Amino acid sequence: MATRGGFSSRLGFIAAAAGSAVGLGNIWGFPFEVGQGGGAAFVVIYLLFCFLLCFPVMATEIAIGRKTERNPVGAFTALGYKNWSWVGKMGIVAGILILSFYNVIAGWAFGYIVEMASGNFGIAEQFGEYTKNVIKVGGYGLIFMLSTTLVVKRGISGGIEKAAKLLMPTLIIMILGMVIYSLTLPNAMDGLKFYLVPDFSKLNGSVIYNAMGQAFFSLSLGMGALITYGSYVNRKENIVSAAALITLADVGIAFIAGMMIFPLIGFMSGGTMEGAAGGPGLIFVTLPQIFGTIGGSLGAIVGTSFFVLLCFAALTSTVSLLEVPVTYAVDELKIRRGRAVWLMAGIIFLVGIPSLLGFGYSEFFSTAFKTFKPGGFDTDFLSFIASIANDTILPLGGCMIAFFAAHVWKKHNLNEELAQGAPGYMGSFVQKYLNFSVSYLAPVILGVLFILTVLSKFFNINIIS
Ligand code: TRP
Repeated sequence: MATRGGFSSRLGFIAAAAGSAVGLGNIWGFPFEVGQGGGAAFVVIYLLFCFLLCFPVMATEIAIGRKTERNPVGAFTALGYKNWSWVGKMGIVAGILILSFYNVIAGWAFGYIVEMASGNFGIAEQFGEYTKNVIKVGGYGLIFMLSTTLVVKRGISGGIEKAAKLLMPTLIIMILGMVIYSLTLPNAMDGLKFYLVPDFSKLNGSVIYNAMGQAFFSLSLGMGALITYGSYVNRKENIVSAAALITLADVGIAFIAGMMIFPLIGFMSGGTMEGAAGGPGLIFVTLPQIFGTIGGSLGAIVGTSFFVLLCFAALTSTVSLLEVPVTYAVDELKIRRGRAVWLMAGIIFLVGIPSLLGFGYSEFFSTAFKTFKPGGFDTDFLSFIASIANDTILPLGGCMIAFFAAHVWKKHNLNEELAQGAPGYMGSFVQKYLNFSVSYLAPVILGVLFILTVLSKFFNINIIS
């Protein structure tokens, strides 16, 4: 399969996979989940899930990809289980759906670079007007999708790997710079306290549920993104340690993003931490207000840097999301890569249009989805798609991938692949724990997560509160 290409180095693969993991989920999603989940107690649960459950699933996805050198659909077929390829198909659909709305949010963030650079902090109060202006935000979204397309078009080592090697270190340096700056602000310590001192009385079923979903999404699991990246990994690489490093990088960057954001909220709120639970508006409303409070050219520099780093993080993720359907089209539909990239990017952009319109421009896409479950609840098209893709398909896909690897393909085959390039893996503690997690922990927990989501989102039966 020499013509298929692949990552040129271990570091390149790790940078690309960590780039996939680190995205809006870390810098936008994680802090607002922490805020709503009551701070540090959420963080503790999140970390447990990342290491006990997500890391083993990640190693499994990469192993399946490397073993078969295929996309998620072809991978099941190549192992001799064509009747499991629906799991891969579901993953391709999830990838298309996730990228369709992810790109809308990335487009907003891209536009904010322009707004911050021109010192327009008032955008915070006009966020609703901003998202309603579909020509403007649609244009930004289009630019973002084109950037993603151009990277993916250049292939694995020449595009994705190169971009990740450049963007990831830049991202880390920028976040660290922002952390240092925000820690110097008045009341920064109140923010840190909220973030780092756990209050376990805040823990309840829904905090645990959210922590699980957040961990899984943040590590790009459940749809075969890492089966796809794994299919481009060299046989000599150590998958187990790579997966551990990718998990650490993702968790580390989410953690540091919190160190940047909570001191800012401490500063803005005068220490009361009011606004910490601001939800999705945290990044697009609360933060620009803070940059406005800093004011002047310093405010503009800090604000612009923040949204540049957010876009860098998003780009290495959108690239991985696009690569999944592209690899599928190349392997299975025998479409030339260059063509497959434009085709998929075009389809995904179109699929994203209702999400784009659902923030005030179109009444229908902004609210009509309240009827999608009995009893109804107010939601927009983007949230509706996210419920299907992130909350429903990813846990189901993850559950099936783990179950498949351990019980259908069988543990000894999985272990054999994982041991390639990992001397000392066989018989180690890591092997035992990874096997246990993939065989029992992951299928059961992810299965429960899936069932709870379906009951709650589609039937309005809420077992946990
Ligand atoms: N993990 C990315 C984030 O946190 C998003 C992402 C990229 C993703 N590829 C994925 C999520 C594949 C699920 C599956 O922003």
